[in-house]
Amino acid sequence: MKIAPSILSADFARLGEEVRALTAAGADYVHVDVMDGHFVPNLTFGAPVMKALRKHSPLPFDVHLMIEPVDHLIPAFAEAGADIVTVHAEATRHLDRSLQLIRSLGKKAGVSLNPATPESAIAYVLDAVDLILVMSVNPGFGGQSFIPSQAEKIANIKRMIGSRAIEIEVDGGVTPATAKICAAAGADVLVAGSAVFATPDYAANIAALRG
Ligand code: DX5
Ligand code: ZN
Repeated sequence: MKIAPSILSADFARLGEEVRALTAAGADYVHVDVMDGHFVPNLTFGAPVMKALRKHSPLPFDVHLMIEPVDHLIPAFAEAGADIVTVHAEATRHLDRSLQLIRSLGKKAGVSLNPATPESAIAYVLDAVDLILVMSVNPGFGGQSFIPSQAEKIANIKRMIGSRAIEIEVDGGVTPATAKICAAAGADVLVAGSAVFATPDYAANIAALRG
């Protein structure tokens, strides 16, 4: 199981240090939550901040774009050093085009689904994605509770992708207890904000999620 700590729960006044600490603590990806105050009711940071963080870690940067519209900002995140760029199926009118754009920039393409969006929304883009991000909370804030219905969606997606090389990532309310549910359903990567930053021992917190 890969763990992708979300820097949404980091100390924003010390972001570079926090990214270095996560790297030393055994994180697999650095999860970057980009919010626009429109698609989601909260605002975080953009490509310039991500670019400044890039030099603090060799880990893959896993960029979760909660932005609508999104296509016009994808190149900026690619240039800023993203490795995986994930867009929301609900936030782009032409999902297939957005995913093609990400791959055309040499990046891995991810698609995310809000809790209310059925897995059928991505049935015809499976060959265009490298990662599927199942939101187990309504996006916008850290520290929310895992929505149990999403376990079934994870399992359904696991069946849908068959032998394709697609990672299933789960984001929101991940704790050592809900991590087990995600693992049983077929998740490959867990995003965690609160659970990783809850105490100063990030390595222990990451290890606890890995199970
Ligand atoms: C929510 C973000 C998540 C968030 C998870 O909109 O996409 O990545 O940081 O935070 P926790 O782990 O606290 O639920
Ligand atoms: Zn996220």
